[in-house]
Amino acid sequence: MDDPGVMDVFEAMSTCRAMRYLKPDPVDEQLIERVITAATWAPSPGNSQGRDFIVVTDPDKKREIGDAVQAVMGDRVAAMDRPDRTHRLMLDGTAHLIETLTTCPALIFVCGKAVYPYGAPRESFVWSSIYPAAQNLIVAARALGLGTVFTTFQGVAEPVIRETLDIPTDVHIGCMIPLGWPDRKFGPLERVGYDQVVHLDGWQGDLRT
Ligand SMILES: Cc1cc2nc3c(=O)[nH]c(=O)nc-3n(C[C@H](O)[C@H](O)[C@H](O)COP(=O)(O)O)c2cc1C
Repeated sequence: MDDPGVMDVFEAMSTCRAMRYLKPDPVDEQLIERVITAATWAPSPGNSQGRDFIVVTDPDKKREIGDAVQAVMGDRVAAMDRPDRTHRLMLDGTAHLIETLTTCPALIFVCGKAVYPYGAPRESFVWSSIYPAAQNLIVAARALGLGTVFTTFQGVAEPVIRETLDIPTDVHIGCMIPLGWPDRKFGPLERVGYDQVVHLDGWQGDLRT
């Protein structure tokens, strides 16, 4: 069914840049519900769906998390080498994102418990449940015009995040996805092309030149 205002999935995926510049303007709860619902449609091993989503919009909680990430990552990112334009743009964007986590409308944590294989759950399956869901969320957000970025740097503040959000020890934090209205342009993507990654009927050596 056509949904006015929603982008074609190929256009959404092919312009889905990591958006590290997000406006502080609020995002309607229904839109957040919509992107998380899209995330729940993702596959998982044995359809075990071992994932949960923590949506943080409370300003005090965002500040606690933002300050804890900034305290460790601020200097670290500032000191990282920026040998070319790509690195400069990415790291300047990361620095900006870290500084503005507090004002970002929503921080979404995609978490998961080891629930698969049933009877003998393994941690490796947690990530295979979390990552497809996170990517569905990111593409759905792009299709609605929202910006997101998949992050793992919040790991430096995991103890603070766990305490602030009451996350039990058996729940893994897979990623954090800051979400908001974009303050920069999306796309195009810089990716290696089809011919450099596709091997027909068997491994054909290193295709990347
Ligand atoms: C597993 C994973 C971890 C990532 N961690 C971070 C992160 O901690 N901070 C960040 O700013 N971006 C992070 N990213 C986003 C990547 O840097 C980004 O997708 C990649 O550089 C491509 O950028 P583009 O989508 O703008 O082309 C992560 C992406 C993935 C898939």
